[in-house]
Amino acid sequence: MAAATTPVTITITGAGGQIGYALLFRIASGAMLGDDVPVRLRLLEIPQGLRAAEGAALELQDAAFPLLRGVEVTDDTAVGFEGANLALLVGARPRGPGMERGDLLAANGGIFGPQGRAINDHAADDVRVVVVGNPANTNALIAQANAPDVPAERFTALTRLDHNRALGQLAAAVDSPVGEIRDVTIWGNHSATQFPDVSHATAAGDPVLGVLAARLGGTDAAREWLVDEFIPRVAKRGAEIIEVRGSSSVASAASATIDHVRDWVRGTGERGWTSAAVVSDGSYGVPEGLVSSFPVTSDGSGWQIVPGLELDEFARHRIEASVAELESEREAVRELGLV
Ligand code: NAD
Ligand code: LMR
Repeated sequence: MAAATTPVTITITGAGGQIGYALLFRIASGAMLGDDVPVRLRLLEIPQGLRAAEGAALELQDAAFPLLRGVEVTDDTAVGFEGANLALLVGARPRGPGMERGDLLAANGGIFGPQGRAINDHAADDVRVVVVGNPANTNALIAQANAPDVPAERFTALTRLDHNRALGQLAAAVDSPVGEIRDVTIWGNHSATQFPDVSHATAAGDPVLGVLAARLGGTDAAREWLVDEFIPRVAKRGAEIIEVRGSSSVASAASATIDHVRDWVRGTGERGWTSAAVVSDGSYGVPEGLVSSFPVTSDGSGWQIVPGLELDEFARHRIEASVAELESEREAVRELGLV
C-alpha cells in the first residue's frame, strides 16, 4: 500500500448505483483506510450509469472531505483502473425476488473478465481487489483468472456481510454486545449454501455453544436453534432483505465492504478472525483455486487462512455442500468461456 502521504487510488465500479452511493462518502471520510490516509477515487460506470456517478462526484466535492484528493468519473475500463491500489468491483446487476444469486452468473459473469484484464494491465503493482457484485465468489474467480500477472491472493470476494449478519443474530440470541462476540466463521459461497459456523465462537470469552445451551435449556435445544433458525436465517438474509425492503441490501453491504478492506489493509489486530472469500490454497479440503470463504486474519500485508481448526462431521458436510456449488459455478463459467 502506498505511503500515508501519497493518496491511495481506489477504483469503485458501479459507483453510480445504490451500494456505490453508500460507499463513496464513507471511503472519502477516512472510515476505510484511516483518518490520516488521503484518497483519490475513480468511479467506473457503464454509459447509462455515468450521470448518477457524476452527481455523486459533485456531492463528494460539496462534502469537503479533507482526505479527498480527487474524483474522476469514467466509462473507460483502462482509465478506471489506471494506477489503482484498491479495486472495489461492485458494478453488476442485483437479483430480484425469487432469484438465487447464482442466477446472475450469465448476466454478470461477462463483466469480470474484461475488468480482470484491465486490472492486470493498468492497476498498481500492489493492487488488492474485492468483488461485491453477485455471484461474488465466482465473479472474483473470473477476474482473477483474467489477471495472470497479479498474485492470485490479491483477489477476494465479500462474505463479510454474512459474517456481520451472523454476529448480529448471535448477539441478539445470547444478549451480548456484538463487539463481545469473536471467532465466528462463514465457510463457502456467498449463497444459501454457505455455512455460518459458531463452533469456535465465544461471547465475552465464554463458548457461544455453552451460552446458548444455558439460555435455551440444553445442548440439544441449542443445536436445534443453530440448525433450524440461525443457519438458514443468516444464509437467506439477503432474500429476506429483498422481500422486506423491495430491493437488495445496500448500506449493510457497503459497511461490510468497508470492514473487509479496513481489516485487510490495517490488520485484524487483537479482535480474532473474520471471514473473507479468498483463493483457496487447498486448506480444509477446499480445492485449490476456488474463491471460497474461510476464517481469516490479516497483519496488514494480506489475508491468512486460520489453520488447524477442528471440524466435526456436520461442519465438514456443510462445507462440502457449499464447495460443490462453487465447483459447479466454476464449471458453468468454463462452459461460458469466461475462465
Ligand atoms: P445497482 O443496480 O444499484 O448498481 C449497480 C451499478 O453497476 C449500476 O449503476 C450499473 O450502471 C453499474 N454497472 C453495471 N455494469 C457495470 C460495468 N460493467 N462496469 C461498471 N459499472 C457497471 O446495484 P447495487 O444494489 O449497487 O448492487 C450491486 C451488486 O452488488 C449486485 O450484483 C448485488 O447483488 C451485489 N451485492 C453483493 C453483496 C455481497 O455481500 N457480496 C451484498 C449486496 C449486494
Ligand atoms: C445480500 O446478501 O444481501 C446480497 O448478496 C444481495 C442478494 O442478492 O442477496
